Amino acid sequence: MSIPIFVNDIRVTNALEQELGSIVAHYPAGKVFIVVDENTKQHCLPQILDCEGLASVPVMEIASGEENKSLESVVRVWNFLEENNADRKSLLINLGGGMLSDLCGFAASCFKRGLHFVNIPTTLLSQVDASVGGKTGINFNGLKNEIGVFSQPQTVIIASRFLQSLNRANLLSGYAEMLKHGLIYSRKHWDDCLAFDLQNIDYEHLNEMIAESVAIKEYFVVKDPTEKNIRKALNLGHTAGHAIESLALHQNRPILHGYAVAYGLIVELFLSAKKVGFPMNKVVSITNWINETYGKFQVQESDFEALYLKMTKDKKNEAGRINFTLIPEIGNVEINIDCEKAQIMEALRFFAES
Ligand code: GLY
Repeated sequence: MSIPIFVNDIRVTNALEQELGSIVAHYPAGKVFIVVDENTKQHCLPQILDCEGLASVPVMEIASGEENKSLESVVRVWNFLEENNADRKSLLINLGGGMLSDLCGFAASCFKRGLHFVNIPTTLLSQVDASVGGKTGINFNGLKNEIGVFSQPQTVIIASRFLQSLNRANLLSGYAEMLKHGLIYSRKHWDDCLAFDLQNIDYEHLNEMIAESVAIKEYFVVKDPTEKNIRKALNLGHTAGHAIESLALHQNRPILHGYAVAYGLIVELFLSAKKVGFPMNKVVSITNWINETYGKFQVQESDFEALYLKMTKDKKNEAGRINFTLIPEIGNVEINIDCEKAQIMEALRFFAES
């Protein structure tokens, strides 16, 4: 079964070999390449090598981890492509999570002014977010995703089979982005996410929910591919979430990105209640659900100033304002909402005490 989505070629499927084989068939022999990391090399690569046309293609391994999302790694990919005579008719298959698809998508987009790439995301987080939408890039001078381009993959193949070996923490991390998609666009998707049994996972049903979630992301990407406007809707939970993620790292208690987004949702739903009329009783019930599902993240009053400062550095701010994406109701979104420092502090206090 394959569920096609909107204009970009995104296939949510449990027939990975057939889908990939049909794509590879369009490229000349010797012009297809694969990049993996140490984890996907071991667990995922063997699952695609049986695919028609892939048995003996050159495979390159890059080290996983944010610290390797660097220009040095891009140079290694370029050298690999050069050594194997890649040209503009070539295809690069990116088999991994968001760090790998961001980095290799960027490398592919610049090599000889751009060759095709296919993303096969292997984590839930990358399936519902990073692999889709065309944001590619690397960290630079200590700044996350500082250098990059918008460049759409030729195809994204989302295969639920990779999720079956994912641990619960990484599953929940991706799930936070799905929750966000429900909040900004679809009450039905939100209700489905809350009703889904995360203890006894029905992977077939999860696949359908992933397709719905990706379709929501695509809706915003297609309307505003380069994030000048409505694509900012996808930022719900992220302004506060990035600050929490960065504080946690700084305090030597790192958390996964999706956990930070879930906690950021608490802060930003509180702000939604204050600024755009989201019902406060729903803020409380959603907060309780997030704390029960993700565990409580402890913050002290003494952390608030640092969190606020980090929010002032958000890439999406304009003209000195912290630009929040907020929701007046589930399924409806407003962008570029300016919040005063006192309101943000109140939201942080709610988060700390909830
Ligand atoms: N991760 C949000 C976006 O792609 O715009």
